[in-house]
Amino acid sequence: MSTARRIDPWQALQKHHARLDKLHLRTLFEQDPRRVQRYTREAAGWRLDYSKHRIDAASLDALFELARAVQLEARRDAMFSGEKVNFTEHRAALHTALRAPADAVILVDGVNVVPEVHAVLAQMRAFSDAVRSGAWRGHSGRPIRNIVNIGIGGSDLGPVMAHEALRWYGDRRLALRFVSNIDGTDFQEAVRGLRPDETLFIVASKTFTTLETMTNAHSARDWLLASCGGDKRAVARHFVALSTNLDAVEAFGIARANAFAFWDWVGGRYSMDSAIGLSTMIAIGAPAFMDMLAGFHAMDEHFRQAPLEQNLPVIMGLLNVWYGNFFGSETVAVLPYAQYLKRFPAYLQQLTMESNGKSVRRDGKRVDYTTGAVFWGEPGTNGQHSFYQLIHQGTRLIPCDFIAFAHALEPLGRHQDLLLANVIAQAEALAFGKSAAQVRAEGAPAALVPHKVFEGNRPSSLLLADKLTPAALGSLVALYEHSVFTQACVWDINPFDQWGVELGKQLALRVAGEIEAPRKRLQHDASTNAAIQWYRQARGH
Ligand code: F6P
Repeated sequence: MSTARRIDPWQALQKHHARLDKLHLRTLFEQDPRRVQRYTREAAGWRLDYSKHRIDAASLDALFELARAVQLEARRDAMFSGEKVNFTEHRAALHTALRAPADAVILVDGVNVVPEVHAVLAQMRAFSDAVRSGAWRGHSGRPIRNIVNIGIGGSDLGPVMAHEALRWYGDRRLALRFVSNIDGTDFQEAVRGLRPDETLFIVASKTFTTLETMTNAHSARDWLLASCGGDKRAVARHFVALSTNLDAVEAFGIARANAFAFWDWVGGRYSMDSAIGLSTMIAIGAPAFMDMLAGFHAMDEHFRQAPLEQNLPVIMGLLNVWYGNFFGSETVAVLPYAQYLKRFPAYLQQLTMESNGKSVRRDGKRVDYTTGAVFWGEPGTNGQHSFYQLIHQGTRLIPCDFIAFAHALEPLGRHQDLLLANVIAQAEALAFGKSAAQVRAEGAPAALVPHKVFEGNRPSSLLLADKLTPAALGSLVALYEHSVFTQACVWDINPFDQWGVELGKQLALRVAGEIEAPRKRLQHDASTNAAIQWYRQARGH
């Protein structure tokens, strides 16, 4: 039997589940008039109301006991202090150092990494100021008006999400575009209508070897050079790189002076506040970027210092464990009531699922419990007119994270009141539903009553903040990062590697070779061989 199941709190939680599974949230609210006060916590500008979860004091106690039994606090401290917690890659996981104040001391292999972090921030600041002010000129002497970030995974999703989330703070004279897909249409659409001599490409890649990114970067260089008679000197004015692999950057033709470094202890999905955030800094300016880092740091400090019972990321992480491992929930819906957060669910998918999509424990043995949930979502209210039906009346239990802000960035008539009314109402409807008696009292014909009943008892968190600021975004991302870490500790898995993406990459290279050398004998399974042959024929190879 595996570690998690052998420890007492796990068994206690099974008993609590058996008890709470029969209780309705209506009853839990009736039994405890102070439930909301009891189950609301605030930190780093965020207020988490988790009273509409199917928990009570005893089950929560057991969840915190579980966190203690797996030594969450010690493992958290190990991560913060720069230990090589990503042991399969022999690396620290020190994204928290990216937002540490300049006077902090965080050692990796005996070297304080904080001065290097701040040196790169200063380099980013100087460069983004120059681009924003027009001092940085393209090779023909024109100022830069278009920024195209080329990257994929963590080198794309964070910058895209932050660009959308903080669009209100962005310099509207600059157009930001993003290329990630190896599908050539992504690149072609991104540069459509742009003047090459006003366009800056940011090649963002931790490894600087990723097939998609390097293919797109080469197409970008060809596109630029085609516009200036092949004058290679143009590259220096129109390309910068964000990477840990500075030799590969140089080999590509980008001068070291135009490279912004980060380090192997920054995971791709934890990198939006490293040099990978350069496009964000250019868009919103260095002071706002620093505000975002301060928001991250405020949540880091909360996670590091608050007792588990008061700790937002711990509570959110344990609730995911509660539903996934005890109620059998397979997914978590993330539903921001803020259009600017429209890419936040996509961002979270990499953060949560690349981190916790693991089935092997740290000791190499297979788990015998479920691990990371499927995260998905769309902004409300759009989702309400699409998939919410299934959350309300379907057969699956889908815990929801609702995210909303008190103040609109762009007040407009009644919009904000109606937006907030919707998110609050959805959480209410999911929790309390509508009984058959209520439906009958509304005059529904008997045959329709079962169709119109809402069982309720569907759990949700309500995450509220004052306004979508750079700081609020930073603390929100850090909240989820540490929630992911909390879950990984309970499941005893390494949330910082991603070996599961490797096989597909290897096979794609092999298949690409076979497609491009049509005489090559195919030695795959019959289905794969047939697909390659079909494509060769379709392309006339
Ligand atoms: O394929 C997975 C992955 O390694 C991610 O973890 C990473 O964010 C992405 O690819 C991009 O990698 P890189 O920044 O090295 O190009």
